[in-house]
Amino acid sequence: MPGPSTVLVTGAAGFIGSHTCVELLEHGHEVVLVDNYSNSSPEAVERIAKVAGRPPAAVYEADLLDRRALGEVFEGHSFDAVIHFAAKKAVGESVALPVEYYDTNVGGTTALLRAMRDHGVHRLVFSSSCSIYGDATKVPLTESDPARPTNPYATTKWLCEQVLHDVCRRLPEFSVLALRYFNPVGAHSSGLLGEVPRGVPDNVLPYIAQVAAGRLDRLRIFGDDYPTPDGTGVRDYIHVMDVAQGHRVALDHLDDERGMRVLNLGTGRGTSVRQLVTAFSDTCGTPIPFEIVARRPGDVAELVADPTAVAQAWGWTAERELTSMVDDAWRFQLLNPSGYAN
Ligand code: NAD
Ligand code: WQD
Repeated sequence: MPGPSTVLVTGAAGFIGSHTCVELLEHGHEVVLVDNYSNSSPEAVERIAKVAGRPPAAVYEADLLDRRALGEVFEGHSFDAVIHFAAKKAVGESVALPVEYYDTNVGGTTALLRAMRDHGVHRLVFSSSCSIYGDATKVPLTESDPARPTNPYATTKWLCEQVLHDVCRRLPEFSVLALRYFNPVGAHSSGLLGEVPRGVPDNVLPYIAQVAAGRLDRLRIFGDDYPTPDGTGVRDYIHVMDVAQGHRVALDHLDDERGMRVLNLGTGRGTSVRQLVTAFSDTCGTPIPFEIVARRPGDVAELVADPTAVAQAWGWTAERELTSMVDDAWRFQLLNPSGYAN
């Protein structure tokens, strides 16, 4: 589907959604935003328009589980494609609130599929996650490696992929791309858009940023006895603007094949927690205080993507380096010490 199109983006005010909306607007797409702001704020929508230099076609405050509200969104527009980010994403919370996670993540996806089918919209890009690989026994991970989800959040993403496979098998008019992101980090280079965690961050890069800013006293590194070069966990960090660009490029490839396809979105490069701390210190110019504590339950030693499949399918690779992820995260932290509130 190369060329400008009208795209519905769910979860558009969130971290990855907001950056993707900027990328789509800057490339001429008409974008309709839906979010219930359960993990974001309307300020993100203001900033999307400011960064992109033009507003979205429409913005709806709506919950995907509200069938009437979702129906109104579809009745108001003629969508060429949908990008579905809306979900709950905190692994620890999913262990405490599994019903809420299945409801929002799986129920939200089936509600969306129902609305799409009923309104003749059949092209979908779905947010999947490297967490479905679970305790991987080898790296790098290819799309055909087995799924071993180890928490309810990861299982919701795996289940959604199964639902999408089934829908595509039975309803051949559907084209679906499920993108398994590894660890998206960073921020827009303007410093206007970034990751705004509620409360104390779960994820390591926003945590380090708050330590560097003096909002948290020190990083707790969860274990230095993993079978990795320096003993700390290794992840495939990918710049959020590369993830955003990946979605824009995905729209151009939805029609390459009918049915369901799964692709990793990572860089293929692993970075340890210690390497991340050093990179952040270099950027902010001060040491990052840290202590080594016990492993975090459920953590795995190493998760790194094999990005070959997406490169072969689209001729696209994530290009931004770790320094740019860290520089942009630090700029966003400095310019927005209280998130979007200021
Ligand atoms: P986010 O929480 O910042 O964004 C999700 C957005 O969805 C939020 O704005 C939230 O308010 C909205 N939302 C939640 N439930 C909703 C509902 N019922 N109806 C309408 N809106 C709803 O998360 P993110 O980091 O931008 O993640 C986006 C997607 O990518 C999610 O599906 C997540 O599971 C997936 N993902 C994220 C990561 C990551 O590390 N950030 C990694 C892999 C996959
Ligand atoms: C990264 C590394 C930690 C915090 C999560 C989700 C996954 C996906 C991406 C959504 C690990 C270490 C962390 C801290 C630390 N999201 N760490 N101290 O766990 O790889 O992946 O985000 O789909 O599903 O699980 O990311 O940023 O939490 O951790 O030492 O305070 O940093 O042990 O090695 P994770 P993370």
